[in-house]
Amino acid sequence: MDAPMSREVKSISTERKMVQERSEAGEAPPIEYIVKESQRPADTSPLLTSPLPVVYLGQPDEAEEIKTALQSWGMFQVIDHGVPPSFLDELRDIARAFFSLPMEEKQKYSNIRDGQFGKEGYGNDEIIAEGQILDWTDRLFLLVQPEDARKLELWPTNPNSLRYVLHEYTMKTKKLVENVLKATAKSLELNEDFFVSHLGEKFPMFARFNYYPCCLKPNLVFGLKPHSDGPLITVILPDKDVEGLQVLKDGEWIKVTTSLDALIFNIGDQMEIVSNGIFKSPVHRVVTFSGKDRISIAMFCSNLPEKVIGPADELVNDMRPRMYKNLKVKDYFEVFSQRFLGGKRAIDWAQI
Ligand code: OGA
Ligand code: NI
Repeated sequence: MDAPMSREVKSISTERKMVQERSEAGEAPPIEYIVKESQRPADTSPLLTSPLPVVYLGQPDEAEEIKTALQSWGMFQVIDHGVPPSFLDELRDIARAFFSLPMEEKQKYSNIRDGQFGKEGYGNDEIIAEGQILDWTDRLFLLVQPEDARKLELWPTNPNSLRYVLHEYTMKTKKLVENVLKATAKSLELNEDFFVSHLGEKFPMFARFNYYPCCLKPNLVFGLKPHSDGPLITVILPDKDVEGLQVLKDGEWIKVTTSLDALIFNIGDQMEIVSNGIFKSPVHRVVTFSGKDRISIAMFCSNLPEKVIGPADELVNDMRPRMYKNLKVKDYFEVFSQRFLGGKRAIDWAQI
């Protein structure tokens, strides 16, 4: 790395303290992390705790189960996913090991390059507006597929099994997502390959390792602010011991619980659009705790940026008129990113 570049990287990354550094220094969350009073986790605290619906893949009624789960929750858990629990443990251990590295080591993969925020790498959200409320989380965000588009310079070599395990997990996730999407298509009475062929072989998949450090004032901040996911579908491997994910269902926040080693599937805005609103992309959030930190690994599967998506013709009729316009995926993401940072949703931009 030449000198001017490292100077620039440093000037931005030192201005922006990582949440983990604040947490380890025993700092209470500064003002830019404090959520407006009416929206704080404590003021909208979940009264309900409920296990996510379970879908048994490959069983005769999987499509029916998926339909029921997606129409009521927008998400479900899969237990019989075939990924060995020891492998999931290894992945979670790798995530924890990465975030436990010294800051200088993690900053080698910083999402700030040449003084510019990049989508991929280790870091936080970009700050684009004054008054933007920041989330109490640090992350490592990487494009994992298509393979030839990986930016390996941002893939940590420490812990040294990270690259290999992430590659393996990508392959397993891809297979599982294809199975889930086939069942989802059947549940909408579409051709089984509808979503899979819509995505194509080279669809982008991103991995996000989320780290939510302990917070001295957990009721004043979000680990992740309320949002829906932008892509078609997301697979979440939650922390083994610490729950923190909540979903808005019928206007109430519900603490999500799952079986040990289950994978969570939730749909994103692209699915809401293509299904013509039969499935709604769920609003969810993550809360933090004073005495325990949390990790999760989310895999986001999206249509290609240049693709134009819109409601499937088969799902538009007199009874259910077209509810969303056709739009280019990358245009949607542009609107999505801006609005996400401001704590707003983008789906109304797609609505007719
Ligand atoms: C996300 C997300 C949930 C979690 O990364 O978009 O919603 O449990 N994560 O960390
Ligand atoms: Ni999410």
